[in-house]
Amino acid sequence: MSMKQKFVAALSAVAFISVTAVGSVGAAEEAKAPANGYKYPSIEKTSADAPKQHKMSPEFQAQVKKLPPEFIQQFKKMTAKHTRYSEDATARQVMMELLSDVQCVTAGLMVENGEMAADCAVRASRHRWPKGHLLAYVKLEQINADSLAALPKINGTVEGGLERVAEMALAKNFPGAGAEMGKVLEGCSNCHNLFRFGKGDSPYIVD
Ligand code: HEC
Repeated sequence: MSMKQKFVAALSAVAFISVTAVGSVGAAEEAKAPANGYKYPSIEKTSADAPKQHKMSPEFQAQVKKLPPEFIQQFKKMTAKHTRYSEDATARQVMMELLSDVQCVTAGLMVENGEMAADCAVRASRHRWPKGHLLAYVKLEQINADSLAALPKINGTVEGGLERVAEMALAKNFPGAGAEMGKVLEGCSNCHNLFRFGKGDSPYIVD
């Protein structure tokens, strides 16, 4: 092959590669696909778009069945903005995410970085669902309309509050956002007071 022929061959190879690259739709996505063969629902979204159906214990099912339909409707409406469903994370793990995001909000507010605070506040407000939904992690005797009636108010204080914090932080109203953040934290601890049990006590300490 003469130098000229080699040059032409190289050029057409480049042309061929660029044509196939442009022509194949989704090549960029393929390039970003994880090498382990696991298919994520999308590159940005690591949790699924729909909840995985788990087999729940008969006691749990019986308890949930007793909830009035109006309550279920209200609950679904209240939680509609949560559209990420983890297939692995437990409630404690999701709560740790919440804690981490909330700490990020307070750090952002303290250094007057409104964008940082707002990003983390919105992320916290729209946290993912743990495996099997949050109800799977509360005591059976608390799965009833009376106990759960506390949730809409708590939800408004915590998740609604975080959205208000985001707005105020973006408007550079840092004292206002800080005050609202205080109410959010009150909501976290109110819910823990009602629904959190088992604080990881050691079984080895007998006295
Ligand atoms: C809807 C009720 C509810 C709200 C609101 C709530 N939590 Fe929780 N949280 C729980 C429950 C229930 C547990 C216990 C879960 C378990 O042990 O399986 C828990 C556990 C935790 C834990 C784990 C503690 C441990 O001992 O492992 C952290 C951290 C946490 N929550 C942080 C937060 C933060 C921060 C907020 C507010 C931004 C918040 N939670 C709001 C219900 C709530």
